[in-house]
Amino acid sequence: MTTRNPTQLASDDDWWRSAAIYQVYVRSFADANGDGIGDLAGLRERLPYLRDLGVDALWLTPFYPSPMIDGGYDVADYRDVDPLFGTLTDFDNVIVDAHALGLRIIVDLVPNHTSSEHPWFQAARTAAPGSPERARYVFAEGRGVAGELPPNDWESVFGGPAWTQLADGQWYLHLFDPAQPDLNWRNPEVRAEFADVLRFWLDRGVDGFRIDVAHGLIKAEGLPDVGFGQLTGQRQVELLGKRRLPYFDQDEVHDIYRTWRPILDSYPGSRMAVAEAWAETPQRLARYIGPDELHQAFSFDFLDAHWSADSFRKVIDTALAESVIVGAPTTWVLSNHDKQRHVTRYGDGPEGLRRARAAALLMLALPGCAYLYQGEELGLPEVLDLPDDLRQDPQYLRTGQSRDGCRVPIPWNGELAPYGFGPAGSALSWLPAPATWRELSVRAQTGVSDSTLELYRTALRIRRTHPALSVSSARITWQETDPGILAFTRSAAGTALTCVVNISDEPAAVAEYGEPLVASTALTERDAGYLVPVDAAAWFERR
Ligand code: GLC
Ligand code: CA
Repeated sequence: MTTRNPTQLASDDDWWRSAAIYQVYVRSFADANGDGIGDLAGLRERLPYLRDLGVDALWLTPFYPSPMIDGGYDVADYRDVDPLFGTLTDFDNVIVDAHALGLRIIVDLVPNHTSSEHPWFQAARTAAPGSPERARYVFAEGRGVAGELPPNDWESVFGGPAWTQLADGQWYLHLFDPAQPDLNWRNPEVRAEFADVLRFWLDRGVDGFRIDVAHGLIKAEGLPDVGFGQLTGQRQVELLGKRRLPYFDQDEVHDIYRTWRPILDSYPGSRMAVAEAWAETPQRLARYIGPDELHQAFSFDFLDAHWSADSFRKVIDTALAESVIVGAPTTWVLSNHDKQRHVTRYGDGPEGLRRARAAALLMLALPGCAYLYQGEELGLPEVLDLPDDLRQDPQYLRTGQSRDGCRVPIPWNGELAPYGFGPAGSALSWLPAPATWRELSVRAQTGVSDSTLELYRTALRIRRTHPALSVSSARITWQETDPGILAFTRSAAGTALTCVVNISDEPAAVAEYGEPLVASTALTERDAGYLVPVDAAAWFERR
């Protein structure tokens, strides 16, 4: 196959080790054709904004043809673009322009399940039990006298049983929505298909993949019951990351990634893959990473940490220790399209925003790769009061918990919603932005020195250029501090950068770390040093 997008970035084999990667939730980023839905042409127009923000790469959420039952994580064709988002040509244009601006592109790969509209599942539906068509998915006979009960007790992550019965009596597995049937990764045909899909996008010039539900591909032989959920009354999804479930993190899943790595490595440049994986311990999560498997796995412990110095310190130490063992960079994530935005998690309102800004400086000072979720650079909060009838998350229908509040379109400019999301005269955006977002728009924050946007720009610029924050300085040294204060130093080339985060209830006096480079809330000078306010962070430099 020919390489359609030969534009390559300057080779830097280690780019992913210290990159700041910006997650674009395509549907909510920018709308070029005015139908109220973000699209690839909209993203293309806004690429200069992302270059100026100072990130190194973009991760694009799924834009493939899809009935959009789960925001595109239900893929009907792995080798095309949904008309809602544009065409393959639009995609190629995004790659070419992004590369020209020095931005790498990672796409989302959804291998655990297809859409029920995928031709394979359409064929499986009408094929006979035991047929090769059904062997691409996980079909099983039911229990009970006449097979009227599901084959086992597995629950969907979105709530309810993980099995749906077809008219001929057989049941199919869906760990997520019934419109997302799980593929059978023990079938060589499935493996061959995805190897080809990887090549399809690598040939088009992508720099990597984010692997959706990377821990889910292999299910335990014999499909055994989970069992203990019933004993404790917990939903099985609450055990995720605590207990091994028979449908997650099975040892044989690693065989699959060992066949993917040589494919990635066979391409010029440095192509990478990051796993969205959940495992019961950091050690088991680390098994996804290595020179013969994937480059990274998201560490969600940072995102789950409470607003407390202890909690952050523990998570950081564990993650960095693992990173040394596996020889791969840690990933830091504060928000994504599945989680409540961190401004809101940290208390919402002015307090939540102050803390979120401090957390950004904490994350961006740590060694490893930082993943930013679109809108966090604007300090966007979760939208908690979306009208119920507009919510689209399939999980909401099954459990009442909705992820729509972090997926509201980005405010770009102007006085009224949807704030320049589309061209003038556009349809309403697919989710409405609140009136309070006028002040949070990109235009409203640009050039305003104490805005969240300018804070991110400054921090990302320092991160890119400061030797103490480069890959060569992979260690942090904790400073002796009062409880409630986090302070760590990274040094290189004769300079030392110290990040101080004040999570106590009094301003913290610091004198010993040099001069401030950036602060999440203005510092005041005192004696020969500075006061870091409560719920604030600052970077200091000593040469
Ligand atoms: C991942 C995605 C999430 C999706 C699910 C099923 O967790 O991040 O948005 O609903 O997989 O594909
Ligand atoms: Ca559109």
